[in-house]
Amino acid sequence: MFCNTSKEIGGLGHGLKRKEDARFIQGKGHYVDDIKLPGMLYMDIVRSPYAYAKILNIDASKALEIPGVLAVITGRDLEKYNLHWMPTLMSDTQMVLPTDTVMYYAQEVCAVIATERYIAADGVAAVEVEYEPMKPIVDAHKALDPGMPILRPDKGKTDNHIWHWEAGDREATDKLFANAEVVVKEQVYIPRIHVASIETCGCVADFDPIEAHLTMYMTTQAPHAIRTVIALVAGHVGLSEEKVRVIASDIGGGFGGKVPVYPGYVIAIAASVLIGKPVKWIEDRMENLQADSFARDYDMTCELAATKDGKIQGLRIKTLADHGYTDAAANPSKYPAGMFSICTGSYDYGVAFTEMDAVYTNKPPGGVAYRCSFRVTEAVHAIERMVDRLALEIGKDSAQLRMENFIKKEQFPYHSPLGWEYDSGDYGPALQKAMDIIGYDELRKEQAEKRKNGELMGIGICSFTEVVGAGPSKDFDILGIKMFDSAEIRVHPTGKAIARFGTKSQGQGHETTYAQIIAQELGIPAEHIHIEEGDTDTAPYGLGTYASRSTPTAGAAAAVAARKLRDKARKIAAYLLEVSEEDLEWEVGKFFVKGAPEKSKTIQELVFAAYTNHPQGMEAGFEATHYYDPPNLTFPFGSYICVVDIDKETGSIKIRRFVAIDDCGTIINPMIVEGQIHGGLTQGLAPAMFEELIYDEDGNMLNGSFMDYLVPTSVESPKWETGHTITPCPHHPIGAKGVGESPTVGAPPAIANAIIDALSHLGVTHIDIPITPLKVWNILVEKGVIE
Ligand code: CDP
Repeated sequence: MFCNTSKEIGGLGHGLKRKEDARFIQGKGHYVDDIKLPGMLYMDIVRSPYAYAKILNIDASKALEIPGVLAVITGRDLEKYNLHWMPTLMSDTQMVLPTDTVMYYAQEVCAVIATERYIAADGVAAVEVEYEPMKPIVDAHKALDPGMPILRPDKGKTDNHIWHWEAGDREATDKLFANAEVVVKEQVYIPRIHVASIETCGCVADFDPIEAHLTMYMTTQAPHAIRTVIALVAGHVGLSEEKVRVIASDIGGGFGGKVPVYPGYVIAIAASVLIGKPVKWIEDRMENLQADSFARDYDMTCELAATKDGKIQGLRIKTLADHGYTDAAANPSKYPAGMFSICTGSYDYGVAFTEMDAVYTNKPPGGVAYRCSFRVTEAVHAIERMVDRLALEIGKDSAQLRMENFIKKEQFPYHSPLGWEYDSGDYGPALQKAMDIIGYDELRKEQAEKRKNGELMGIGICSFTEVVGAGPSKDFDILGIKMFDSAEIRVHPTGKAIARFGTKSQGQGHETTYAQIIAQELGIPAEHIHIEEGDTDTAPYGLGTYASRSTPTAGAAAAVAARKLRDKARKIAAYLLEVSEEDLEWEVGKFFVKGAPEKSKTIQELVFAAYTNHPQGMEAGFEATHYYDPPNLTFPFGSYICVVDIDKETGSIKIRRFVAIDDCGTIINPMIVEGQIHGGLTQGLAPAMFEELIYDEDGNMLNGSFMDYLVPTSVESPKWETGHTITPCPHHPIGAKGVGESPTVGAPPAIANAIIDALSHLGVTHIDIPITPLKVWNILVEKGVIE
């Protein structure tokens, strides 16, 4: 079949239906819990009921009496092989299983291996652990107080401070603030939340004692990095890297929560190695909620300086970060606070300074990039709240204030005061489009009228700038591994292809969009390009999928690898058509002789010739690999506007409208992008109004099940109205920027700003998210609206 238009081949910009959906909508996806291997055993984990306690004794005798329970593995067992500790991705250390002390509620204490899943659970119930509880540190603000227990003496620590980080010019910023006409200040706390993927974490560790080979089937977003970590952690017991194969098949959502190495994985590997049989471990929903890596937990003191008429001049933010008992965030090594320094936002001003201190507490570790580029959500929340705060202070419309302060189109590439080079942007039109769609001016008039009657209506804006696509390898690495990504394309003689990648989709649609990129570059229909990810034995090395990096890195690698192949096709075409390469022209799917379009060779003919009739001296075959090291990050942006109505009797909040205008450069598949934005907006609604992990003063999690931790569904979600502008990325081969996380980053401040705007005439300047009806009701009582 020869197709000669981009649409026919499913090239860029076409809403091709997702190839992967054929199996997903028929229930034929293949997830780790679908794996059943001969002789497979099951693992379940005993977890701590205390946030901080000494383990006095673990008595497994009753568990071992249960028929089918084969073993109970403790920290002391792992200690014999030096496997009781492992490195975190931030070069801290984390217990696999404790030998003497538990550090957080629901921490792994020991593991039961049995012939059946439910027998393993019975075994867990029968293990008797004797604890000596100690007073935990729950409040990060008290972690550094004198007299607090030192949580990490194993690291030679004499206090609970982990690191201090800063960016920008402290002196110049302090000077500016000292002389500024207007300074606004707010304490903005973004609480701990949970990555609630549909599928929990899990693995099947399959060690073959004859070959000394481990196959690890697992729900990981970064299979190659995990293989390297396994080899680093367990190389000394024979698991060297060529003997480890990580296979990530279908994944039911990752969102950053499936980047870390969890203790359960290492215990399952140890159990499989010790027993010589495959061992499956699948977390249950409550374990996933209570013990997996958390997100956010930043307490930010934010200040914005401006002139009286609203020219923003400077930003200062001081943050306290609660990392739990170990720093197990998954940030690039050089960026302990991820990309928080994007916090200057979409606005043009010269001076900023931000500093942060991270502390240990008795909570689960983490700080994962929950659908955000390593702390961008926190950064955007800070600046977008503060811009609204300034608008309120000086009595200027918040849209107008933004418009007046935006970095202008002609200023790109723009150098931000905290060191980023924004690649491209055009912020005004995106906000204007959102304002036009939602009818901003009319809404403001309506709000003024409603206020006269005591009705509560608010309009909130967020005009965010994102930073995605880690990353240029000169700056970005994880555990020293440079953050490039890769694509390998192999075209078979009949012109059909397989392409493999170092990334790993968890539902984003890579099987479709990568095929579209290659289709556009080579003219081979997307339906004939099979995409494979997630098997470290076959895919080229890559750093995986998180932080919206797949399109900026592996997507670019696909385009460059395809262009290498097109260069080869040109050589073959010149040979077959007996002209020089310069005499040839390319149009989607074929080369033709300039001025003689009837003399042409299709890509299919050229690929066939690569196996059957290629020029003497040319290497046979038609395949190419590219490891793409991006020259810069990509900076997607957008403007969101939210309208809320608040019931003045109950405090209940209704999102009346929400318009999201996104700009991710060239759009590969508009249908997939819209899907990404819908899902991401709902994941932004979640922390804005519902989700927060709550601990009592003893460190017990108070909302450790979905009975109490409210994940929004379609019932709670408003109708999302989406649109876009297109400002191509100047350095990406097809002009694309990442998009997956923009809505999760942009939605919370838009919603928070709308709710606060509805209450601002009562003197409310800030409310921490999640903004619940109860919080609003309390404010209404305090302000005398409810008697
Ligand atoms: O790394 P991750 O796949 O999570 O994020 P992404 O690169 O932002 O891509 C999310 C999905 O949107 C992928 O299927 C992309 O190919 C698609 N996308 C697109 O169609 N056009 C863009 N400009 C960016 C992403």
